[in-house]
Parts: sequence; C-alpha cells; structure tokens
Amino acid sequence: MAATVADMSTRWWRLSLVAVATSAFLLVIAVMLLLGSGKIALEQQVAAAARIGGPFQLTTQDGKSLSDKDLRGSPFVVFFGFTHCPEVCPTTLFEMSEALKTLGDEARSLRMLFVSVDPQRDKPEMMANYLQSFDPRIIGLTGSEQDIEALAKSYRVYWKKIPSDDGGYTMDHTASVYLMDSSGQFTGVIAYGEDQKSRLVKLRRLIRG
Ligand code: NI
Repeated sequence: MAATVADMSTRWWRLSLVAVATSAFLLVIAVMLLLGSGKIALEQQVAAAARIGGPFQLTTQDGKSLSDKDLRGSPFVVFFGFTHCPEVCPTTLFEMSEALKTLGDEARSLRMLFVSVDPQRDKPEMMANYLQSFDPRIIGLTGSEQDIEALAKSYRVYWKKIPSDDGGYTMDHTASVYLMDSSGQFTGVIAYGEDQKSRLVKLRRLIRG
C-alpha cells in the first residue's frame, strides 16, 4: 500500500517526538552529571577544610609551652607573621586588639594566636616586647624552624624569606586570620583589611559556636 500524505505526516510527528524525548533525556543526564560533579567538588572542599590546622607544641612569649591540646574546648584564631613586619602584622594585631576590646568579656573563651614565621629572630623575649603594644590576650608563639614549618604547612600558609638591600631579610607571608572552632576544626578566615563590622560578626559566630 502506498504511503499517503497523512501517513508521512504522522511518521514525521513520531520522529519529532522521539527527538524531543531523546533531547530531554540527554539534558536530564547532563544536569545529573553536573550536579554530581558539583557535589564531589563540595565534598572535596569540605575535606580540604577539615585538613587545615594540625597539632603543635610551641613556646609562648612568656616562655611557656602551649600545644593544640591546651586549646581543646576553646575556639581560637590563628595568624602567622613576624615582629619585623612593616605593615600587615601590626595592622592585623591592631585590628584584632580593637575587636577584643569591643568584645570584652564576650571573648573570654576565645584564644588568639600569633605564630612567628621568623623564629630565627623572634625569640620569646622579642615576641613579649613586640606584643606589649597590643591586647594582652594575644598569645605569641615561636619555636624551632621545623616545628614552625610543620604548623605553617598544616595551615597551608605561604611564607618566604626575602633578602633585603641592607643585607637583612624580610618575610612574605599569608595575611589571612584562620578561624578554628572549639574542636580544632577550620571554619573560615578573616581576610586582611576586612572591615571591623564583618570581623566582629565572624568572631562572635565563632565564639557562640
Ligand atoms: Ni606581617
């Protein structure tokens, strides 16, 4: 039997329907794959975050030993720098001191750590002298080159000794302040130069858990 015009038209419609259904099916697959890879990326981010921070045992500006175990149960912030720093460290320490002053007693459970990435020059006495200009609740930490390097690595901190023209050296270093909860888990950062309002919001959130 010869195909009529009506048959041709029906066949065309069927083909079109199959094409639309196939496209929709492929689209669903593509979206599922995208969502799946997004989920994996998020899980990787969470896993990476979980790996920030680690055990340490260092010396405070008072010459006392302090380890991560001593911080258990207290939220803490940690930043890395050095006493000869011309700008980033004094600015951060000043802004953190201002935040502590504003928080007052609210910050009683919070520990604030300033870890030297220049242990060659930053002995405890040097740290004690330097930190006199800032809030007395800030704990300065120094130690052996190896111990500092291990800690900086666990926080994925970038730091590099840069020779200066006068024969001395300066240090390049990560300027972020790391926020760690009372179980020692990384929860976020305060960026260098972040405004004081946002700094206080983040610190209060950290304190309240
Ligand atoms: Ni600095």
